[in-house]
Amino acid sequence: MQQKEKSDNISTEKIFSMKKSDDTPSRISPAQHGLIQALYLLASVAFKWFFLWIRGGNKKQRTTLFWDMISERYDLDSSPDRPEHKAVQNARKYLKSSDSVLDFGCATAGVMLRLADSVGFIHGIDISPKMIEAGRDKLADRGIANVETSTATILDEYFKPETFDVILALNIVHLLDDRKRALARAYELLRPGGYLITVTPCLAEARSFKDRMIYVLLLILTGIRFLPHIGLLRSVEVANALVNAGFEIVETKNLERSEQHFVVGKKVLLS
Ligand SMILES: C[S@@+](CC[C@H](N)C(=O)[O-])C[C@H]1O[C@@H](n2cnc3c(N)ncnc32)[C@H](O)[C@@H]1O
Repeated sequence: MQQKEKSDNISTEKIFSMKKSDDTPSRISPAQHGLIQALYLLASVAFKWFFLWIRGGNKKQRTTLFWDMISERYDLDSSPDRPEHKAVQNARKYLKSSDSVLDFGCATAGVMLRLADSVGFIHGIDISPKMIEAGRDKLADRGIANVETSTATILDEYFKPETFDVILALNIVHLLDDRKRALARAYELLRPGGYLITVTPCLAEARSFKDRMIYVLLLILTGIRFLPHIGLLRSVEVANALVNAGFEIVETKNLERSEQHFVVGKKVLLS
């Protein structure tokens, strides 16, 4: 895996740094490097998107394609500020060593790797086969046994009701085009007394100039269907969506970056 990262870096360097063979230093700054990479990614998404559109791909295929492409770069940002890391710290108090956990939208299994030794079993699902493949490589490299992953969405008839003690839905609620159905399904899959733990970027509450610009850009790109569904939510909408699905809210707070909202719902025991 390390070797793969190394070779990825080398090829990126070759493509973007414009280093001369005599090792004279690169003339582009890290910011320019990042911008070129972002433009490269957008251009390749646009290119593949266009062909899928011509072939008449449906919404699920386009969403899968988008995340498959993101998977190549998903692990490059390992910053401890990533919201899922903060969410994992906050989530630990809800986890027991006997728990059966579902990681909904597990991507490349980063969260599962961090939590595997604190719970009984974790099953990760993701719509993107490439995310799942990358995650499986990492899990196999570390020899972690109490995890399993599948290419699936929560709506698939994959699991039986009341299978899990905890469902993690980190950075996924805003991506669901049928949020109501997905949360109702999460409720169904939890055992009574179980927790749904969410963290959601609530960009409608963005305060910094940069985040507001991202908000506007996403509004345009999702509006013209260049990106898959991204809900530009307020934190109260996330909490209300959980309540409407039947959950009792047991915690709600902003993580360090104010627009990252952490909400935990409990499936209360009915007497
Ligand atoms: C922003 S990433 C978050 C990943 C991870 N939970 C984290 O916090 O690092 C969203 C992930 O959800 C997946 N995804 C998007 N829509 C999905 C759906 N309807 N069902 C399952 N996975 C989905 C994407 O493929 C992607 O891996």
